[in-house]
Amino acid sequence: MQRKTSESSNGAAIKIATPSAKRAPSKSTTTSRTQRSVGTATPVRQRQAAEPHRDLLAWRKEFPILQRKTYLNSCSLGALSTRSMAGMARFQELWNEYGASAWYKLWVSEIAEVRNKFAQIIGAQPHEVAIAPNVSAALSEIATGLDLGERNRVVMADLDFPTLAYQWMAKQRLGIEVDFVESPDRMTVPTEQLMEAIDNRTGLVATSRVFYLSGYIQDIAKLTRHAHKQGALVLIDDYQATGQIPIDVKALDIDFLVTGTLKWLMGGPGLAFIYVREDLIQKVRPSVTGWWGSRDMFEFRTGVFEYRDDAQRLEAGTPAVAPIFAANASLDIVLEVGVERIRERTRWLADDLVRRIQERGWKLLSPADGAVRSSIVMLSMERPEELVSSLAQRGIIVDSRPGRLRISPHFYNTVEENELIVSALDELLAVRN
Ligand SMILES: Cc1ncc(COP(=O)(O)O)c(C=O)c1O
Repeated sequence: MQRKTSESSNGAAIKIATPSAKRAPSKSTTTSRTQRSVGTATPVRQRQAAEPHRDLLAWRKEFPILQRKTYLNSCSLGALSTRSMAGMARFQELWNEYGASAWYKLWVSEIAEVRNKFAQIIGAQPHEVAIAPNVSAALSEIATGLDLGERNRVVMADLDFPTLAYQWMAKQRLGIEVDFVESPDRMTVPTEQLMEAIDNRTGLVATSRVFYLSGYIQDIAKLTRHAHKQGALVLIDDYQATGQIPIDVKALDIDFLVTGTLKWLMGGPGLAFIYVREDLIQKVRPSVTGWWGSRDMFEFRTGVFEYRDDAQRLEAGTPAVAPIFAANASLDIVLEVGVERIRERTRWLADDLVRRIQERGWKLLSPADGAVRSSIVMLSMERPEELVSSLAQRGIIVDSRPGRLRISPHFYNTVEENELIVSALDELLAVRN
């Protein structure tokens, strides 16, 4: 793949990847829906010529919701692809065809496959990966499995997703203390503030790579270096980043990572992942456990319990298989497009959205600087739920958090859809009292 440098809408240099033929599906079926939906005076053809990554739009035909809606809510739920639909249909066919033997013949290898693909996306080895039904359950495996000993303090940010905090708050009766670092602007947390909070009683720093509330990208490399120097471990809640922003867990040297398929990985609900750094696996002994976490599970040795040697010791019981089929298909899409390319595209789209927001003087609650902002764009809005439902009536799907309207384009979105959402907001806000 060749690369060249171009100017993004806000003037920042971005890389444009020239697509390989195999990478994107045929362009012939690129939806015309957004090309019809024009909200500014710039001719469509002129804007298309200026827009990089146009080849990625060929993927749109794989996501039926994009033909029906202006879908800008991938940080809540990634769009369902025809490939994932076919994967889930295949799961049902195999169930009908083989009955229980589908487990041994096929489903077990499907689980191994999803583990391998996820490991590839984050730069891990498959034996360092466990699966869980959701991120909260994944966190419980680590929180009950990790003995922090004398270093009983857990440092996190008050912008982290509540479920991350609850894991350790629920263990306060076991002597765990949670130390929240307060965000000065409800948008960012300076890395130095988190670093200062780490002391010789801190056993773990548990925080997000991307804050769900603002899209801010934390400097995990710097934080981890410092935490390790102080003798603390680092756990990353990567739910709002995996599949959107490249990661190499080895280069970052993080100890644990949890994430799931619901959002940027486009695999829907029911599947989460846990990464445990190889040399820590033996130290994690979860009390939330079961036969899938035990060595030689098929020997059915009631009365003998030993943890497995690999990260699967953090698993408990029979997983839901349909989401694994859905995820095997969606992770293929992530790998084919490439997370680096997804980041280029989503950064460009989010920069474009931010520019339109700033032109209108609306208050942005995400960083203006695209280098530290993911593709979650938050706007300060009164009664955002009303706007969400008015937009939904126009076929535009976004989402809200208290006092905030949240727009989150993925690689399959278009600049025309950015135009659509902002011009719809122009109209809705003009008649608001
Ligand atoms: C950053 C982050 N962590 C965790 C969660 C919760 O995950 P789960 O419902 O799988 O426990 C969410 C959900 O939106 C999230 O955004």
